[in-house]
Amino acid sequence: MIEIKNVTKKVGSKVILDNINLKIDKGSLVVLIGSSGCGKTTTLKLINKLIKPSSGEIYIDNKPISKEHTIELRRKIGYVIQNTGLFPHLTIRENIELIPRLKKEKSITEIEKSTVELLEMVGLKYEDYIDKYPSELSGGQQQRIGVARAIATGAEIILMDEPFSALDPITRTSLQEELFTLQDQLKKTIIFVTHDMDEALKIGDKICIMDNGKIAQYDTPENILRNPANEFVQNFIGLNRVWNNPEFIKAKDIMIQNPVSVKSSRTIIQGIEIMRTSKVDSLLVVDKNNILEGIVTVKDMKLNANKGQYLKSIMSTELLYVNDDDNLVDILGVMNEHSVGYIPVISNDKKLSGLITRSSLLSVLSEQFLEMEVSVLG
Ligand SMILES: Nc1ncnc2c1ncn2[C@@H]1O[C@H](COP(=O)(O)OP(=O)(O)OP(=O)(O)O)[C@@H](O)[C@H]1O
Ligand SMILES: [Mg+2]
Repeated sequence: MIEIKNVTKKVGSKVILDNINLKIDKGSLVVLIGSSGCGKTTTLKLINKLIKPSSGEIYIDNKPISKEHTIELRRKIGYVIQNTGLFPHLTIRENIELIPRLKKEKSITEIEKSTVELLEMVGLKYEDYIDKYPSELSGGQQQRIGVARAIATGAEIILMDEPFSALDPITRTSLQEELFTLQDQLKKTIIFVTHDMDEALKIGDKICIMDNGKIAQYDTPENILRNPANEFVQNFIGLNRVWNNPEFIKAKDIMIQNPVSVKSSRTIIQGIEIMRTSKVDSLLVVDKNNILEGIVTVKDMKLNANKGQYLKSIMSTELLYVNDDDNLVDILGVMNEHSVGYIPVISNDKKLSGLITRSSLLSVLSEQFLEMEVSVLG
């Protein structure tokens, strides 16, 4: 775990970082994001001891880094800097193997074997690249080598300063995917700096939004989108961004609350009457604790000649439902797979909490698009 505690950095009278506090869990990927000059690179440099804080302390696994040997510390930390920082006069092999060979923790054979694996991991064909110089590789390929080199050091911690910023959107997207997959296997502790909110949302376990040397919000992508801490964050993430990310839209955001429901001890005749007055063609059946038991449709009721029967005996109990935390992508998936036009929503304690219908979906989504247009026009 990395912990930044009350860290302030001043240069002359200029405050660059103003009492920063940040905890980064082992094995998680945290994105630092903010406008140019807000202090992102400075934060990475402090962790790597390229510069010292004016006050405060940084701890790695509960040990203050000010007391650690700088070179030793740096060997524990991989640093991918913008424009890769590959040594131009060294081949790809030499670039990747430099630190492992210096460290002498592994035999040469082991190091060479791991180089082959690493190149494969970052999607490059070993024999095509190993003896080339960085200048013979495209920007995206150099970035991949930069990532491979950081991993090769065996570092538990990897600092990445806008590693993908110079790349075209397609290469960038594919490297984001690769980083995500790599991280899934390797579980390094990664701090990733970017200017790009979409990138942050795609890869971050948590996002730290910085504003002028301070932390504006530090939370999961979901919580930042759903509950921006202040106006700065709101403007930063962009209005209505949540609606561009359907995986952040939850059933509870789009369901009809208090859908028409009945107790199973009602008779068919009562059920029909309730449907008629509330203008619906099916009823959700719940028990006295509001736990969803079944569903009856107009058709079920009409098919039954004995209108004095209880709903309990005719309701269908093979129920499809979603949880109120399920997201729009899951919900649409269930609705399409089973070709249903509506789906009940239940809470964790199995109580009925709402209903999603095709028309409720449409109206919620279209309202959002209207709002978006208004905000664009305004
Ligand atoms: N050695 C220095 N001396 C004086 N000011 C500095 C020094 N290093 C950084 N700064 C200032 O500190 C602020 C933060 O710089 P930093 O490089 O951390 O920003 P950043 O968030 O990484 O920006 P960018 O997105 O442009 O890379 C800037 O205003 C910068 O000018
Ligand atoms: Mg920077």
